[in-house]
Amino acid sequence: YSEEDLYRPNFHFTPKKAWMNDPNGMFYYNGYYHLYFQYHPDSNVWGPMHWGHAISTDMISWTEQPIAIYPDELGTIFSGSAVVDISNSSGLGEVSKAIPIVAIYTSSKKLEGNDNWKQTQSVAFSNDEGKTFTKYENNPVIDNDKIKDFRDPKVTWDDDRNKWIMSLAAGDKIMFYESKNLKDWNLLSEFGQGIGGHGGVWECPDLFKLPVIGTNESKWVLFVSINPGGPNGGSATQYFIGDFDGTTFTMDKQFETALNEKHDYWIDFGRDNYAGVTWSNATRKNGGKLMLGWMSNWDYAQKVPTENWRSAMTIAREVQLQKNENGYRLISNPVKELANYRGRKYKKENIVIKDDTKIIDAESIDLAKTEIQFNISNLEETTYTFKLSNHNGEELLFGYDNIKKEFFINRKKSGKTSFSEKFANKITLAGRTSTNDNLSGTILLDKTSIELFYDNGETVMTEIFFPNTPYTKLSIESKNQEFILDNIEVHELNFN
Ligand code: FRU
Repeated sequence: YSEEDLYRPNFHFTPKKAWMNDPNGMFYYNGYYHLYFQYHPDSNVWGPMHWGHAISTDMISWTEQPIAIYPDELGTIFSGSAVVDISNSSGLGEVSKAIPIVAIYTSSKKLEGNDNWKQTQSVAFSNDEGKTFTKYENNPVIDNDKIKDFRDPKVTWDDDRNKWIMSLAAGDKIMFYESKNLKDWNLLSEFGQGIGGHGGVWECPDLFKLPVIGTNESKWVLFVSINPGGPNGGSATQYFIGDFDGTTFTMDKQFETALNEKHDYWIDFGRDNYAGVTWSNATRKNGGKLMLGWMSNWDYAQKVPTENWRSAMTIAREVQLQKNENGYRLISNPVKELANYRGRKYKKENIVIKDDTKIIDAESIDLAKTEIQFNISNLEETTYTFKLSNHNGEELLFGYDNIKKEFFINRKKSGKTSFSEKFANKITLAGRTSTNDNLSGTILLDKTSIELFYDNGETVMTEIFFPNTPYTKLSIESKNQEFILDNIEVHELNFN
């Protein structure tokens, strides 16, 4: 097998060559979803950052574009966001030609004589729908000499107050700014010291309003990525639910109490979903927000066994806010556009699972591009173990332990693992929050990644793996006792 055959994903974005990390500047305009990304075109490890670029009409099939933003005298181009400036509030649009796309990113400049960076915020604008950008002449728009980590501006339009709001990561807190024109920014407030996870530096925030499913209520959501300090080690994205009054973000009281009792508010409990933020100008009719993350982890991202390129993005997901007796919780699920790629299908009901029961093999469905839905009713006191395996005896185990009420992924024997001792040293765990007696899930498989959406997206786990030959069999194992798999639907996904 070539590296391309074995490891290049079928339906997750990867750059054709070289190093990629965070998604940046995502916006929707005129039929296209844009995805920019942290990109080092000259190497397969992290280095001087550019903004790479890709476009898609459905967030599934991506076409890579020329590099959009290059380093300049203010520094390399770290993470940030982009907005569609419909009213030309910035004045950066060429009147009668185009609505400007305005990118706000971190300029990061290495300081002479020490290991620190000067990080400031800069603006670039596009009058050709995001293809090419011109740097604003008075950069930086937010200068900084004091704060070491000061980056990843995410700008959103505050419809209630008619102004732009920026959230910015500043080490152990988020700083909020306001602006009328995307160029002059005033500091409003700070959030986060002593709150939530602090096992590492705070990065890539995102503040936005989200309706509560089935109500007229809306709450504000704050994403904060953290590295390290994730629930299963390394990098991960936590979130907070609260209110924003135009100046200050305040956690919801019930949410705060629950968070203090147990911090299990993570976008994804798997080890490979980081730095995710939402698309601008792409709110769904139901109010849901669209997002994706970088499908890797700073613990080992620069060592994974691909040479030509490094890293993929997660599948695009729709994020919604649910409220029940346990309080507020985000749910996320793959975007519905993925279903347009369904091809061959396998469907079965009432399968008796004992020992190791084969569900499907590579003859009937290509397990390297697969979407699976399953449902198990009346959960038993047992462990439900799904197993992907190949002829080399390599296996990826995942599932649910209904005694400990924990989901798990075990990639210890999944294939190549020794490139980093942090890759497969532990089993990834996620406590189940739903108390439903039925367990349902969606599983996405794409050669080197698994994305698990349990309980309608209440618990999500994303991980990567590198088998030496493709997985050819999916089976389910019952250790303590037989059980019934009520139904399973497996769709092969077709891509050209
Ligand atoms: C997150 C991050 C950001 C930064 C970028 C640099 O992964 O560290 O905070 O802007 O990557 O590439």
